[in-house]
Amino acid sequence: MSISIIDVIETFIHAMYFIFPAYCANAAPVIFGGGRPVDAGRLFPDGKPILGSHKTVRGLLAGLIVGTLVGFAQQFVPFGQQSALLGFTLSLGALVGDLMDSFMKRRLGLTPGSPVPLADQLDFILGAFLFAAAIGQSPQISWILIILVVTPPIHLLTNFVAYLLGAKNKTR
Ligand code: CTP
Ligand code: MG
Repeated sequence: MSISIIDVIETFIHAMYFIFPAYCANAAPVIFGGGRPVDAGRLFPDGKPILGSHKTVRGLLAGLIVGTLVGFAQQFVPFGQQSALLGFTLSLGALVGDLMDSFMKRRLGLTPGSPVPLADQLDFILGAFLFAAAIGQSPQISWILIILVVTPPIHLLTNFVAYLLGAKNKTR
């Protein structure tokens, strides 16, 4: 059996289609975030912030709303099988994954925004995969591989663009 370039492109499009709500949920807080911190400014027993004041409730809500709307809209594309429910689930997973990364970074004494290569780019993807699996919507293995390989460069590029636009003050 031979794999044609058309198959590869098709698989790539399906993979990007699958994870798109998570990408949007991850980007939304950068644009709409701010205000009350998720951890309410509390410290962990180690004396360091639980998450940090930059992880905000508004950022979480914005991510959930945007990701859910994207999932809803996805059912209308020609090959679309995604839904508001899957959009919501992928977004919730992405946001929780991102918070887990921040929690671990604070435990290591890293200040908010300090780079941890791969963890920073894949935290939200792994969260999205796990939450999608929990509702029986695991992506195909080929999609997982594609997403894991292309997300770090896409993430770095979009962060750089956000930095140029002034929305973010760190290029990661
Ligand atoms: N943000 C937010 N609420 C969230 C997540 C993010 O308001 N729940 C906003 C904050 O302004 C934050 C920015 O999005 O500074 C970038 O988020 P992210 O890249 O996830 O933060 P990091 O700089 O990576 O922080 P950390 O070191 O905790 O990973
Ligand atoms: Mg992060």
